[in-house]
Amino acid sequence: MRRRLIAGNWKMHMTPQETEAFVGQFLDRLGGATDAEVLLFPPYTSLDRAARLLAGTDVALGGQDLHTEPRGAFTGAISGGMLRASGCRYVLVGHSERRHVFGDDDAAVHDKLQAALATELLPILCVGERLAERRAGETERVLTGQLDRGLRDVDEEVERITIAYEPVWAIGTGETATPDQAQETIASIRRWLVERFDAATAEGIRVLYGGSVKPDNAAALVGQPDIDGALVGGASLDPESFARIVEAAGG
Ligand code: PGA
Repeated sequence: MRRRLIAGNWKMHMTPQETEAFVGQFLDRLGGATDAEVLLFPPYTSLDRAARLLAGTDVALGGQDLHTEPRGAFTGAISGGMLRASGCRYVLVGHSERRHVFGDDDAAVHDKLQAALATELLPILCVGERLAERRAGETERVLTGQLDRGLRDVDEEVERITIAYEPVWAIGTGETATPDQAQETIASIRRWLVERFDAATAEGIRVLYGGSVKPDNAAALVGQPDIDGALVGGASLDPESFARIVEAAGG
């Protein structure tokens, strides 16, 4: 049985002070333990504060990106080991903003995923098609390419990986894939996992949906048989709306 995962990607939002206010309100609002696993991706500069405030709770932390090298002359970069030392269990790899704004190609995504595994972080590999690709009927080809190249060389470690399907046209646009569209595409990702690994392995891997998830559409999305949770951007910045999404997922 795959445990649902609701993850909040704060992107370039939330100072340490704002993080403190968020965590206080969110924990108050949520009460005790939740059925779904809850995960936050603060910016690097708020990780330490978040880790202190969340110590002893069930809310996990992750980094939004990582560099492939463990250390060195890479101004502005953060390594997997640094993320671990700052309280992270997870790391995002290949988020569409990394791919399309910062130019991370599939080779970079592959290397980052390997670096995450090597530092014992749990990578969340993000894949997704652009609007023109969906309109041209190329969704499956694009996703298969991203998965093939991102997971090249990955074997049984795939059990430590979560996949997030985030159609680029639905991120930050208010445009959500319908539950049926998201289910259909995520089912095709699971079929790819069965072929690339095996049925039992594919059955154990969580695949999330991301792209304009909100309190009022979360239950319908995560209620789909192949959708194991959500990667939430904008709606994770408000403690009330993020708590409602966690509840919608069965919290
Ligand atoms: P959004 O972002 O929920 O604001 O669309 C999702 C994401 O980028 O992970």
